[in-house]
Amino acid sequence: MGSGYVGLVTGAIFSEWGHEVICADVNESKIEKLKQGEVPIFEPGLKELIDRNRASGRLRFTTSNQEAVEHADIIFICVGTPAEERVKSHDQYLKRANLTYVGKVARDIAMYMNGPKIIVDKSTVPVRTGEHVEKTIRRYLSRDIDFWVVSNPEFLREGQAVKDCLDPDRIVIGCNQEQPFKAMRELYSRFPERIIETNIWSAELGKLAANGFLALSISYANILARLCDKTGADVTEVAKIMKADRRIGPKAFLNAGIGYGGSCFPKDVAALYNIFTEEGLDAQLLKEVMLVNDTQVEYFIQKIREEVWTIGDKTFSVLGLAFKDDTDDVRESRALEVIKELCRMGAPKVKVYDKYASNTAREELERMGRKDGVDYNGLVIYCDNVNEACSDTDVLIVAGEANEFKEIKPKYLRQKMTNGVVNRPSWVFEGRHIFDPKEMIKEGFVYYSVGRKGEN
Ligand code: UGA
Repeated sequence: MGSGYVGLVTGAIFSEWGHEVICADVNESKIEKLKQGEVPIFEPGLKELIDRNRASGRLRFTTSNQEAVEHADIIFICVGTPAEERVKSHDQYLKRANLTYVGKVARDIAMYMNGPKIIVDKSTVPVRTGEHVEKTIRRYLSRDIDFWVVSNPEFLREGQAVKDCLDPDRIVIGCNQEQPFKAMRELYSRFPERIIETNIWSAELGKLAANGFLALSISYANILARLCDKTGADVTEVAKIMKADRRIGPKAFLNAGIGYGGSCFPKDVAALYNIFTEEGLDAQLLKEVMLVNDTQVEYFIQKIREEVWTIGDKTFSVLGLAFKDDTDDVRESRALEVIKELCRMGAPKVKVYDKYASNTAREELERMGRKDGVDYNGLVIYCDNVNEACSDTDVLIVAGEANEFKEIKPKYLRQKMTNGVVNRPSWVFEGRHIFDPKEMIKEGFVYYSVGRKGEN
């Protein structure tokens, strides 16, 4: 139930493993596309997976929750749990997760339940949601049918969702009754040694806690970057030293930049902060994580202002629009925040490029523009490739780290940006760490990369 990044990828993988899967969603146009063989989101490897299993008949799509419920022995709840705006609160960071969609699915499950079912929550939810799901189903169930509620949080990353599902770090199965464990173990029998069995509360909280910790480490890296800017230390070197500690590890989320975005970290840290607060516990630490993240774009923009000085007479280019690479998802994208800020500061023209996210960015900037009363899209030029975005421009902002950006040669970039005019200055501001600062400075760029001055 719910065919977004989590539902669609999980459904496709389960069908690949030989199960009969129906993916349901209330969004009719999305389901229609899927039925026609189109995949409404971009995720590497997903289209092939869906095509293959659709052709075999194991993977089907429906807008009917009744059909989905009646079909299944195991029902996965994969609907969105967005942050709820709390307009009246004195604290802008207190945003509870909106569980309306989870509640609706629970009621539909109760209404259409035609036999014993295992109901598995995969959506990221506040601790104790499983109890509410169980109560709701019991309340709306008209017959006496056995059912079990399980928490099986999803840990996939967008852009690597298929890969993550086929090779997960861990499978968490949380339930307060013994019966469903057997079926869940069987479902995930490929990874017996990666299964963590626990109670439902720990499973629910474990997911939020992991996202909170990852976000915390990013904000930590970002304040370290600010200190590096002041002291001449290089944040990538500092992170390297930290990661060499086996207790931290090589994959730690310590890449400083313009802050984290996406549909998960921003809402999950807020939801976690809200849970602490509702339980009467102090969680200023989490509030600080959000505060650092919010001010990181401002910090970056301030650097641009200082170096570029007059904005209205420059052309700007931005590489990367999605909240990260290999996705078309622009939710909470920091790149869009930077673009909005450039427009507000009077940039006359912002050329942008992203291999997958141009359309979604256009829609999102349109929506934001209506809200802010600014015609962002009137100032933005969507380019078809890196070359076009980097040609004849004064200021380049690198907001993504796609491979095609990493392949850009500084000498060539300088030539492109200046259009061959020798004395024309070029500014490059990196929210990532793609280029070698020394090389960039040698090529004559005015260069800034978050947390690394490139002085030594
Ligand atoms: C995140 C988690 O990594 C997944 O484990 C989790 O399942 C998912 O949320 C979820 O809750 O559904 P995702 O948001 O798809 O996954 O992407 P990440 O790769 O975690 O990146 C999130 C943001 O943090 C991006 O904007 C990225 O650029 C930024 N980031 C990441 C940094 O700024 N620095 C880092 O070191 C790492």
